[in-house]
Amino acid sequence: MNIDDLTAFAKSRGMFWPSAEIYGGASGLYDYGDVGATLKRRFEAAWLAYFVDTGRNCHLVDGSTLLPEAPLVHSGHASRFNDVVIGCGKCKTYYRADVLLNELGIKISEGATAEKVDNAIKENKVKCQKCKSAHWLPAKAFNMMIDVSLGPERGDKGYLRPETAQSTYLNFSLEFNILRKTLPLGLAIIGKAYRNEISPRQGLFRMRELTQAELQLFFDPENWNVKLGDLGKRQVNVHLYGKKENQKLTLKELVEKHDIPEFYAYHMGFIDAFYKDVLGVPHEKIRFMEKGGDEKAFYNKVHMDIEVDIESWGGIREVGGLHYRGDYDLTQHKDGSKQDLSVKIGDRDFIPHVLELSFGVDRNIWMLIDVFYTKEGDRSVLKIPNFIAPYHLAIFSLQKEKEIDEMVEHIYKKLRPHFKIFLDSSGSIGRRYARMDEIGTPFCITVDYDSVKKGEHHNTVTVRSRDDKKQVRIKIDELESFISSRVSFDPYKAFNFE
Ligand code: GAP
Repeated sequence: MNIDDLTAFAKSRGMFWPSAEIYGGASGLYDYGDVGATLKRRFEAAWLAYFVDTGRNCHLVDGSTLLPEAPLVHSGHASRFNDVVIGCGKCKTYYRADVLLNELGIKISEGATAEKVDNAIKENKVKCQKCKSAHWLPAKAFNMMIDVSLGPERGDKGYLRPETAQSTYLNFSLEFNILRKTLPLGLAIIGKAYRNEISPRQGLFRMRELTQAELQLFFDPENWNVKLGDLGKRQVNVHLYGKKENQKLTLKELVEKHDIPEFYAYHMGFIDAFYKDVLGVPHEKIRFMEKGGDEKAFYNKVHMDIEVDIESWGGIREVGGLHYRGDYDLTQHKDGSKQDLSVKIGDRDFIPHVLELSFGVDRNIWMLIDVFYTKEGDRSVLKIPNFIAPYHLAIFSLQKEKEIDEMVEHIYKKLRPHFKIFLDSSGSIGRRYARMDEIGTPFCITVDYDSVKKGEHHNTVTVRSRDDKKQVRIKIDELESFISSRVSFDPYKAFNFE
C-alpha cells in the first residue's frame, strides 16, 4: 500500500481520518474511529505492561498538557525547539526546509541552520513546488511550540507541552520523596504533546497534536549496575553516526568497540525485543539510527532513533527514540525554579541523570497497519498480534433461526465480560469473515444448525482463525479458555527482566 491507499483503508475501516472532516479537515489533526481508538489503547496497554509494569520502581504518572511559560523557557524549548522554515516570496507557501530539500534529493540534516538552508537553496536552484518561483524569503528558525494566553485579560502566557517528558521532570522531586527516595526511578506518561509542525502533510507521521508514550529513567550516573549478561549476544541493526552503512552488531560489541554505555546498550536490546519479539515486526525492518552533530536533539548526550522500514512511506521512518539526556533537564529546572532538585544518597548530593525511552504512539499505529497488512490473493488480512487486535472475536449466526439466534445471544453474554466482541448476523458469511480479517480480528465463531440440534456437534461451534483460515469445532464451555490463551499478553515471556 502507498500512503493514499493506507489513508483510505484506515478511514473506510473505522481507524482514523482528519479531524473536523465535515468542515474540510485540518492539517496535522486526526481523529480515531472505534477500530483505531481500540487498537491505539491496546498498543498503549502492551507498551505499559512491557516497559513500565515489569520495571522495579517504575510508575505511570500523568501531567497537565498546558504549562506556564517558565518551565518551557528553562527547558530550552522556547529558544531551541526550532525547525527551519522557508517561504516562497511569490505565492507565500511555507515549507519545512529539511523536508523540502530531502524530498528533492538534496541531503541536509534536520538541525541545519538557516544559513546552510539558504546556501543549499541557491546552489541547487530550488523552485517553489507550488508556483515554481525561485524568489525565496530568507530561511528562518521557527519555534514549534504552540503558545496560549490565559486568564480574563489573556495576559498569562503558556504553552501546550511539546513532549510528555517535561511533566515528569517537573514532578521528579515530589515523586522521588514519595517513592522512598530510591534510584533508579522510572516515571512514564502516555499522553498528548503539541507541535506547530510547519507543513504537516504526512498523516500520523507529522501531527500537530500527537500521543507519546515516554518512560524517563532517573539514575545515579556513578551507580547504575545494568549488566548486559546474555543480552550482550543480541544482534541489532544499527547505523552509527558518521558511518556510511548499517551494521549488524551485538550489544556487547557496541559497548566494547563503539563506546556506547552499557546501560544504553541494555535498553537498546529491551526496545529491540519489544519490536521483534513482542510485536513481531520482521527483524530486517528495524534499525537504530545514531544521531550526532546538529542532528542530535539539544538535550541529548547519546541519541538513537528507532526506525522501521515502512512500505507506504517507501522506506525507513522514525517511530521512537532512546535518549541519554544526562542531567540536562533537572539542572535546567533547578536553575529556573530555584528549587533544589538534587538527591542525597549516602553521603553524596547529586542531580540524577535521565535515560528516556520515547515512542510516538500514532506513528506506531501507522507502522503496525503498514507492516501487518497482508494481501493473499483477493483476501486482505491485518495480521497484527492477537493481543492488540481491536476485536478479539466475532460471533456469527450461519442461518436465521430462532434457536441459532438464542445460542448466539447465550455465547455473547458468556464471553462479553472477557473479550471485545463484534456481532454480525447479516450478509454472506464470506463477506463477514473478510470484514473481520481486514481489521485483524483473530477469531470468528459461527453458530450453525449442528450447534443447536441434538447430536455429535450439539453445543459446539466452529472457530475460524484469521491467519490460516483453519476451522475447528469447539465446545461452548471451552471457548473462554481457548480464546483467552490466544489473545493474552505476558511480557515476562518476551524478555528476561532483571
Ligand atoms: N521526549 C523526547 C521527544 O519528544 P522526539 O524525537 O521529538 O523526542 C519522540 O519525539 C517521538 O514522538 C518520535 O520518535 C515520534 O515517534 C513521535 N513524534 C514526534 N513528532 C511527531 C509528530 N509531529 N507527529 C507524530 N509523531 C511525532
